[in-house]
Amino acid sequence: MGPDLSARAVDARELMDEPDADERMLGLTYDRFRLVNALVSRPGGVYRRDIRARARRGRIRILDVGAGGGDLCRDLARRLRRDGLAADITALDADERAIRWAAAHDDGAGIGYRCALADELVGEGAQFDVVLSNHVLHHLSAAELSQLLHDTRTLVGESGVVVHHDIARAGAAYALFRAATAPFARTVLAGTFIREDGLISIRRSYTREELAAAAPEGWSVRARAPFRLELRWEPGDARP
Ligand SMILES: C[S@@+](CC[C@H](N)C(=O)[O-])C[C@H]1O[C@@H](n2cnc3c(N)ncnc32)[C@H](O)[C@@H]1O
Repeated sequence: MGPDLSARAVDARELMDEPDADERMLGLTYDRFRLVNALVSRPGGVYRRDIRARARRGRIRILDVGAGGGDLCRDLARRLRRDGLAADITALDADERAIRWAAAHDDGAGIGYRCALADELVGEGAQFDVVLSNHVLHHLSAAELSQLLHDTRTLVGESGVVVHHDIARAGAAYALFRAATAPFARTVLAGTFIREDGLISIRRSYTREELAAAAPEGWSVRARAPFRLELRWEPGDARP
């Protein structure tokens, strides 16, 4: 039997968030995020929906908040290059260990790396056309979530788009993740925090209704397969 998922496990802490987390395991975890994201986050969707058409109008500025190992940024850089489009991509993370690892694995993608919270960028008057995050919302306290939504909304001014993606908490998501990762626990996921933290992440995540209740007016929440939530802000005239 799985854990009780009727409420968010806000007190459960992910191992990778611990300041003394093993650096080798952390590095391997950032590396393997690429596989997990290719399977569950599927950045092609956000690229086609929110980035490609904007980039066709000219060079765009993209910010990935809580970029971790930076694989989402590298994936987007690859897609833009393939389509002959140009962007300045910034990978932002509050954890210096993540930014250090991501910068060391840029692989020629040409991404800018920054260790900071989004409010620092707001203070500097920075602006972006597209602000994204993936698997970050569930890490935050209620006050941090509210600050992040305020900051990311401010960073796109009146014409950009903000798209936060995360897991949707559900018993089936937990059971599926546990079963699907079990065969890989001693191979591709060995020496990483992915299996244990993934299960904690699902317990910490929001349901669609909870996220909609936590978000201020002007934001919309959509459920996407498989067990995903998209929280977005876009200018009034671009809303469906
Ligand atoms: C589970 S990882 C996800 C990494 C990456 N987005 C991905 O999908 O692979 C969450 C990341 O968010 C970062 N993070 C958590 N709270 C943050 C905040 N308030 N501002 C910036 N980064 C944050 C953590 O340091 C961590 O690297």
